[in-house]
Amino acid sequence: MERYAEPPSQGTRTAVAVKGHPLHPMLVTFPIAFLISVPGSDLAFLLTGDPFWARTSFWLLGVGTAMGFVAGLSGTVELLAVRGIRRRAAAWSHFVAAVMLLAVAFANWFLRLGDPVGAIWFWGLYMSGLGALLVAGAGWIGGHLVFEHQVGVVDEEGD
Ligand code: HEM
Repeated sequence: MERYAEPPSQGTRTAVAVKGHPLHPMLVTFPIAFLISVPGSDLAFLLTGDPFWARTSFWLLGVGTAMGFVAGLSGTVELLAVRGIRRRAAAWSHFVAAVMLLAVAFANWFLRLGDPVGAIWFWGLYMSGLGALLVAGAGWIGGHLVFEHQVGVVDEEGD
């Protein structure tokens, strides 16, 4: 069953690449790893009471959001520059999910400014869980773009 109601994929070229390798998939690994780890460090703080874990969450969120923003810029240039990407609904779904995840990650980091310990319970932990779910959702749609729509993998755009 076609879940995204889109034309059959013939693959697309990439616009932001190093020697033909799209930059965006290289950049997203960092925000994914950092942001998906935050519920773990929040829970480690709640279980141990050690402020080290609260500071870990704070830095994971700050650096994860900044690197997510850089990755988002490379993805946005791809989206706007390559017609075959622009015309796929899944690309826009991925964009919306990614902007939501970056907004939640930034708000979570901002909430903790000045008090990384006190902000964890309850809203910090809640936003960390929500952020990790959004990372998983956006990442899944991103993978769908590459592995099913073959976005960014052919030399000449085939749409
Ligand atoms: C904010 C705007 C964003 C746009 C417009 C965007 C766009 C894209 C595009 C066009 C692709 C297909 C590969 C390519 O052409 O490079 C892609 C793949 C992907 N994106 Fe994004 N992206 C954005 C942000 C993010 C963020 C913030 C994350 C994660 C934190 C993310 C995770 C992924 C993943 C995991 C893939 C699949 C990579 C692979 O399997 O090789 N994207 N994205």
